[in-house]
Amino acid sequence: MSEQFVNIKPGTLLAPVPAVMVSCALPGQKPNIITLAWVGTVNSEPPMCSVSVRKERFSHDIIRDSGEFVINLCGEDHLRDMDYCGVKSGRDVDKFAERHLTPIAVPGFIAPAIGECPMYLACKVTCSWAESSRSA
Ligand SMILES: Cc1cc2nc3c(=O)[nH]c(=O)nc-3n(C[C@H](O)[C@H](O)[C@H](O)COP(=O)(O)O)c2cc1C
Repeated sequence: MSEQFVNIKPGTLLAPVPAVMVSCALPGQKPNIITLAWVGTVNSEPPMCSVSVRKERFSHDIIRDSGEFVINLCGEDHLRDMDYCGVKSGRDVDKFAERHLTPIAVPGFIAPAIGECPMYLACKVTCSWAESSRSA
């Protein structure tokens, strides 16, 4: 091994990664938003993305039980919203209301998209993998 490399313990050093706001909902309940950075591309045809959500997040069980989520891509205008949705929990606050974000109906989905974001990817869960602390 070249002397210019330092041997370190195994880790997930794929940074930086784009953070997104993921919206989710269960029938009859207020929708929620979670900020995620552990998001990736899995396949192009059919198109598949991955999200990695810690089990203690309020959004974890919503996504698991609804079987869907919406990835909202964010621009610079929404950095503060993204920050807020990444530190506050939907257990305690209504993030759409607090950040004056507009839930937009997505045909065939319970979860709304965020109207202020420039683009969204509406996703159905086709496969999930559970590790001790996370589901992806
Ligand atoms: C930039 C950023 C990236 C984050 N990425 C993740 C992530 O990939 N997975 C995760 O479980 N939590 C991630 N979080 C933490 C959650 O967004 C945060 O715990 C949030 O308050 C959970 O909301 P909820 O309890 O309403 O689901 C991130 C937070 C920030 C600020």
